[in-house]
Amino acid sequence: MGQSVLTQAFARRDGVAYCEDVPAERIAREAGTPAFVYSASVIRDRFKKLSGALQGVPHRIHYSLKANSNRAILDLLRELGSGVDVVSGGELFRARRAGFGAKDIIFGGVGKTAKELREAVQAGIKLINVESEAELQLLDRIAGEVGAVAPVGFRINPEVAVETKHEYIATGSKGHKFGIPYEDAPAVIATALRLKHVAVLGLDMHVGSQLFTFEPYRDGLDKLGDLASRVRAMGATLEYVDIGGGLPVAYGDGDADPDLGAWHDVIVPSVKKLGVELLVEPGRFFAAASGVLLARVLYRKRSGGKDYVIADAGMTELLRPSHYDAYHFIEPAVARDERATVDVVGPVCESGDFLALEREMEDARPGDLLVIHTAGAYGYVMSSTYNSRPRAAEVMVDGHRFAVVTARERYEDLVRLEQDDPDWRDA
Ligand code: LLP
Repeated sequence: MGQSVLTQAFARRDGVAYCEDVPAERIAREAGTPAFVYSASVIRDRFKKLSGALQGVPHRIHYSLKANSNRAILDLLRELGSGVDVVSGGELFRARRAGFGAKDIIFGGVGKTAKELREAVQAGIKLINVESEAELQLLDRIAGEVGAVAPVGFRINPEVAVETKHEYIATGSKGHKFGIPYEDAPAVIATALRLKHVAVLGLDMHVGSQLFTFEPYRDGLDKLGDLASRVRAMGATLEYVDIGGGLPVAYGDGDADPDLGAWHDVIVPSVKKLGVELLVEPGRFFAAASGVLLARVLYRKRSGGKDYVIADAGMTELLRPSHYDAYHFIEPAVARDERATVDVVGPVCESGDFLALEREMEDARPGDLLVIHTAGAYGYVMSSTYNSRPRAAEVMVDGHRFAVVTARERYEDLVRLEQDDPDWRDA
């Protein structure tokens, strides 16, 4: 894997894996495995780089909480000046708890409930991106009841061609469930302009995730630009254009980190022409390379001519390989000369429980610590307790210091919500 400055935080030193300046083995011994470890310096570095790339136009970065909603990461990003993008009442709760002010928060999502919309309106957040006329009408009613005017952006499906590694992470092409179909947008916005309790403030798109070409941004922005002129002609005062997330990250199988200069050139001039504040919602870009998953090798076994490395982490901790066929670079924490082609699998009772298939890698033996790279985004947040496996610990590292920031779940946590003596028997 390329030793870019961004992966340097988890590079080996003299053949031994480190998390910033702390040996990975030391963290694993203190926190146990499986554990996610996040690097504060990677997040700081990436925030600085992205802010730099957006110079030249008024903008605000709204970190997309869904990628990793760990409190320590939220605290760090808040201190750096980030806002947040939330997609549920639960994320809104986490954002407020982490100290984000109402005006630091924008709210998106295709299926917001009345309760969630009410919470957002009551909190007085910066922008609610609505995705249908029905949602708009509901929001207007709720804002009326609350006695407020809801700040509205319209998530438009710009219906552009989007190439992503996996179809599940493309969102902005014709027929996707997200956003208002492009041709319907003027009518929906015209309706909004007649409603009393909504203010039309922005246009929004999110065309996909892990976008390794920037054409979808360019094509999408062109379309939002055309729409902006039409909407302004109808009398709307647009303040924001939100281009969503989607910046790609190098996972080590040939992807490159994005050329932020080229991205700037696609985004900034056209947003400048629109004369609005640019909002961006990156998730993966900040979180993915900031994190690794540490797992212990439990067993090695040969079956049907295949070599299996059985680890104490699998699809319950990191669903991406199994759900998206995603590649995560894996290496033992202590370098080995021998190489082997193996399936790295977890303990879950599913054949789909794997971290890597037919992977040619440094051989790993029982007792070895494995470092599973680029696991900071869509890792812990997508984890489950299937097979009654308590959730992993989360650790934050900053230079020579580290701390467990989310404790490993205990067995008691698995049953915490079960009622002692519920009265359900028909007798
Ligand atoms: N804004 C909206 C409206 C989104 O739907 C998303 C991601 C983002 C921002 C942040 O996108 P990012 O910058 O992270 O690409 N679980 C999948 C990724 C799903 C992305 C969902 N939406 C994965 O592990 O690859």
